[in-house]
Amino acid sequence: MYSSNELLQMVNSTIDSLPYDRKPSALYDPIKYVLSLGGKRLRPVLMLMAYNMYKEDVERILMPAVAIETYHNFTLLHDDLMDRADVRRGKPCVHKKWDDNAAILSGDNMLVLAFYRLLQCEEKYMPAILRLFTETALEIDEGQQYDIDFEDRSDVSEAEYIEMIRLKTSVLLACALKIGAILGGASDQDADALYEFGEKLGLAFQLQDDYLDVYGDFKTFGKQIGGDIMCNKKTYMLINAQLLANVEQAQELDKWLNMENPQREEKVAAVTRLYDKLGVPQMVKNKINQYYQEAAQALSRISLPKERATVLWDYAQSMLNRKS
Ligand code: IPE
Ligand code: IPE
Ligand code: MG
Ligand code: MG
Ligand code: MG
Repeated sequence: MYSSNELLQMVNSTIDSLPYDRKPSALYDPIKYVLSLGGKRLRPVLMLMAYNMYKEDVERILMPAVAIETYHNFTLLHDDLMDRADVRRGKPCVHKKWDDNAAILSGDNMLVLAFYRLLQCEEKYMPAILRLFTETALEIDEGQQYDIDFEDRSDVSEAEYIEMIRLKTSVLLACALKIGAILGGASDQDADALYEFGEKLGLAFQLQDDYLDVYGDFKTFGKQIGGDIMCNKKTYMLINAQLLANVEQAQELDKWLNMENPQREEKVAAVTRLYDKLGVPQMVKNKINQYYQEAAQALSRISLPKERATVLWDYAQSMLNRKS
């Protein structure tokens, strides 16, 4: 079996060797740019790991793995436009380095490229994989719409938030793992257990992303801190702060949420102070741990000897401690 580092290198060298022989360059340069900025490559690595639990020849599925990474990067181009974010992976977003049109059209092109690359898999598995991926992409749009809708709502429940992040984030991790399992010839039960593992891991992952958006370090996180606070994103932290706040704290929170054109530093600092006072950071950590336990349970259902899942589980654990 391959180590996570070996798999990451395979993904990166496949991405580096992708041909860019089509024109016009104004369409393809932003794609090349965003894919060259790295990122953790979680989804393709997860796909390869799931496959590698069943088969050794992981190089056979490098294109479908890169397809999922291409799709993920497409969502980021549009997400940054929607979230008014300027920096990603420590570099200017496509809509900043070029313009909004570049983020829209190069993004659209990446969505199509993702299908193009996904089709480069074993023929007999293609219908199953296309069905899964298409359903996943629909769900992600739905999650992204809820995320945006929630910005203007003040009564979002924790359950609604969890379902929103399941849709916008978890299902892609789950899909990547399940595609790896399907291509590896896993049983339906194993493929479903890996899907559920990905769902739980994805919930923990997005909770962590939301946490780092407030408590991370710009240099390592690569995204501007406080973006979610500025957009009034209804994160687990904000929802729970609203629930726990006393009258005075609730008024202060409302003041910041309703203020037109607030000063960035002031708003981010004030809302973060309220989170700290209300013990919200610890709540997120507990919730993340809860989903890790549920992920471990799902993983324990697969039919393979336990050691076949070690690389995957260790990798999932390393995601828990991430700062980027
Ligand atoms: C960012 O995903 C979008 C979320 C779902 C939080 P990643 O944190 O995997 O971003 P990169 O690809 O490593 O940059
Ligand atoms: C992103 O959620 C989910 C998708 C891109 C589908 P975020 O908006 O939290 O991701 P970041 O923080 O910008 O990477
Ligand atoms: Mg965003
Ligand atoms: Mg977003
Ligand atoms: Mg985020």
